[in-house]
Amino acid sequence: MRSLSEELRPAGGGRALASAQTRTEVGIVGAGPAGLMLAHLLANAGIESVVIDNRTRAAIEATHRAGILEDRNMRLLVESGASDRILRHGSKHAGIDLRFGGHSHRIDFSALVGAAVWLYPQTEIFADLADARERNGGDVRFGVTDTRLVDPAGDRPAMSFTDSDGHAREVRCEVIVGADGSRGVCRSAMPTARRTFFHRAYPFAWFGVLVAAPPSAAELVYAHSDRGFALISQRTPSLQRMYFQCDPDEDVSRWPDDRIWDELQARVRGADDFALREGPITDKSVLPFRSFVCEPMRHGGLVLAGDAAHTVPPTGAKGLNLALADARILADVVERAIRTGDREVLDEYGPRALAGVWRAQYFSYWMTTMLHRAPDATAFDLHRQRAELRAVANSAAGATFLAEGYTGLGSSSG
Ligand code: DHB
Repeated sequence: MRSLSEELRPAGGGRALASAQTRTEVGIVGAGPAGLMLAHLLANAGIESVVIDNRTRAAIEATHRAGILEDRNMRLLVESGASDRILRHGSKHAGIDLRFGGHSHRIDFSALVGAAVWLYPQTEIFADLADARERNGGDVRFGVTDTRLVDPAGDRPAMSFTDSDGHAREVRCEVIVGADGSRGVCRSAMPTARRTFFHRAYPFAWFGVLVAAPPSAAELVYAHSDRGFALISQRTPSLQRMYFQCDPDEDVSRWPDDRIWDELQARVRGADDFALREGPITDKSVLPFRSFVCEPMRHGGLVLAGDAAHTVPPTGAKGLNLALADARILADVVERAIRTGDREVLDEYGPRALAGVWRAQYFSYWMTTMLHRAPDATAFDLHRQRAELRAVANSAAGATFLAEGYTGLGSSSG
């Protein structure tokens, strides 16, 4: 892959001899959806970037993540020229089923808010964006090690790392974007005295499985039961994605397939004709579950994007959508900061992004607490949850509230 960066000739001495130095306009740590979408949008605006990631491309492609995209993010993928594969390989979902008390209750997004969402797995979005960078001669380096930020608050911050071929590199940048997830190096580069971490832990997690089987319903089923939450999602006509609420310390090796099916069936069982279709389970994993926001999202030449800046619990599938919303806002702000040479323009990013971030935090928290069973839940709590679910499913006002949050309508981000 061709590097757009200009090789600097080190004047000699110390570190300069040890690591090859290059320059770029925007350094991006993390080749997930936030980082790659940002690099793509910046390239469209004529701004060069270098993206690094400590994972290999194959490892990223093998990691199963969420699969629901808001309409505006579908349009971002297509209209930015990244890819229109979503229109052929994704599927449009105009509603979901809320399942409780043994019955499914459809929330009809089209009728309520005139919007829909797209089922299109994050692994496909990653492939689309990585291919677009390659097609357009972008500089993306997978499998790097020893990633460090050099003077992130200073005038010329740098990314220092060892390339996958073992060569030490230092890339000096106008701006560094930390899009390296919740466990990356960038979040911790925000100085303790300057930032606030807001977070909330939950006393449960999700057990996720991939199942070789046909779909059990036309749309996604979010199920509340006395035994806890379950989500019946989809991937392709022959592969389905399912989750059930579990203990945060759950060990997947304690869950042979039969036990998983007993649990899933118990959580969706009802008096209607819904039938959960079983098949061989090809993947099992436990997903972490927490809410987190870092404010501010900028310090000096470093800005945070995606999960590095905020994490939502998975209920409602907002994480990927927030990452793409960050990229959209950042592309605009970073372009102006580079064009004008005024880094203070970066200060517009946080306030523009955070309204949407907190709205999604609230929505994800609300969906989570409405549908999950807390370990100390009493009979009162279960009755109260069922009443809340009836209030949502049986009232146009309640259902519209859910539909707006799920489809991303009314979000002030961007
Ligand atoms: C999926 C994940 C979610 O968190 C969700 O709310 C809906 C779907 C998924 O992986 O398919």
